[in-house]
Amino acid sequence: MDKPFSQACVNNRDPILEVLQRVFAHSQNILEIGSGTGQHAVWFAGNMPHLRWQTSDQPMYHAGINQWISQHPATNLVRPVALDVLADTWPSSNYDGVFSANTAHIMPWEAVVAMFAGIRDHLLINGFFCLYGPMKYSGALGAPSNVQFDQMLRQQFPHQGIREFGEVNQLASSAGLKLVEDNAMPANNRLVVWQKVGMTDELYVSTPEVGNQGQEQ
Ligand SMILES: C[S@@+](CC[C@H](N)C(=O)[O-])C[C@H]1O[C@@H](n2cnc3c(N)ncnc32)[C@H](O)[C@@H]1O
Repeated sequence: MDKPFSQACVNNRDPILEVLQRVFAHSQNILEIGSGTGQHAVWFAGNMPHLRWQTSDQPMYHAGINQWISQHPATNLVRPVALDVLADTWPSSNYDGVFSANTAHIMPWEAVVAMFAGIRDHLLINGFFCLYGPMKYSGALGAPSNVQFDQMLRQQFPHQGIREFGEVNQLASSAGLKLVEDNAMPANNRLVVWQKVGMTDELYVSTPEVGNQGQEQ
C-alpha cells in the first residue's frame, strides 16, 4: 500500500503548529480525533516533544497512519486507537488536550454532537480542544472557495457540509467548553480553541482572538 499523502497537511501544518505550541504549551497528553493520513501527528509530535500525542481514527485509516509513524518514529507519538466518535470506543485515559482537523464538515452532524459529548467525558478540566477547518458564520461562508467546497461536499454526501460556528459553539458550551480563541488561518480555515471549565474559571491567560472573523486568502 502506498503511504497516504495530503498536500493540504503540508500546507497547513506550520500555521496550525504555531497555535498548538502556544495553546498546548503546558499540556501533556493529547488525543487527536480523525488522524487521517497521520501526517499532522508526526509533525506535531516531532515539534512538541513535551507532550504525548495519541493518534486515532476509524480502523480503515490505521495502516496509513502506522506507515507514517514507522517512517517518523518518536517516543511521544502513539500508534492509533480505533475511535469512531459515534461508537463507544473512546480510549479510557483522560486527556488535557484534544485536537481534530477537517473532521466536523466530513462527519454527519450527529457525529459532531457525539464528538463533543466524548470530549466532555474525556477532556480534563482546564484542558483545551482545538478544532481546525472551515466554518460558516451566520450563514456566511466567506471566500468563494469555501462556497464551492461546501456545495461540492453537500452534493457528494448530503450529511457533509461546512458547519455553522454558532451551532458548533453551542455544542461546545453544552459540553462544558468555553470559547477562548477563534483564529483565522490560511486558505479560509479557522482554528477554534475551547477550554473545559470546572469549578474554577477564567484561567486562560493568552491573547484571545474571539470575534476575529476576518478571512485570509
Ligand atoms: C478529511 S479527513 C481529515 C483527516 C486529517 N485530520 C487531516 O486534516 O488531513 C476526515 C477525517 O474524519 C474522520 N471521521 C469521519 N467520521 C468519523 C467518526 N464518526 N469518528 C471518528 N472520525 C471520523 C475520518 O476517518 C477522517 O480521518
